[in-house]
Amino acid sequence: MDHSKNSATRSLYDRLGGEDRIRAIAGTIFDRHIGNPAVQRRYVASDREALIPILTAFVSAGTGGPQTYTGKDMLVAHRGMNISDQEFVAVLDDILAALDEHGVGQREKEELLMICWSLKDQIVRQ
Ligand code: HEM
Repeated sequence: MDHSKNSATRSLYDRLGGEDRIRAIAGTIFDRHIGNPAVQRRYVASDREALIPILTAFVSAGTGGPQTYTGKDMLVAHRGMNISDQEFVAVLDDILAALDEHGVGQREKEELLMICWSLKDQIVRQ
């Protein structure tokens, strides 16, 4: 991490705290999904320990980290699930709550929220 750079030039990946922090956040997001009645049925069959490294690589690569994401693209990953707008918002709620829980700053939350929002058309009603 380059501490000499300010928030305008440091990657979102660095400002989130790098891979270890993103992995911890991914775990919190998954646990919140399991506890969220709006989406838990989607994840009950999921393998937590298998999914977290995929989510970690996805967020890391998508925020400027050195990782290569080798998982499915968002269209393929969610195709056939017929995910609703309500479910999408519920997932965003869980993501924001997890970011709060990990003390992520307002600006970083907003940037990540915008990245997630930009993926909506690939995820909802596919
Ligand atoms: C911005 C929002 C979202 C992001 C960034 C996201 C990201 C991902 C990623 C990276 C994967 C793994 C792909 C792979 O296996 O290679 C995945 C799988 C999945 N997603 Fe999403 N997703 C989002 C929203 C949603 C929503 C709204 C739902 C439904 C409520 C959902 C349900 C699932 C399910 C059920 C899986 C498969 C899990 C498994 O393999 O066990 N996702 N998602």
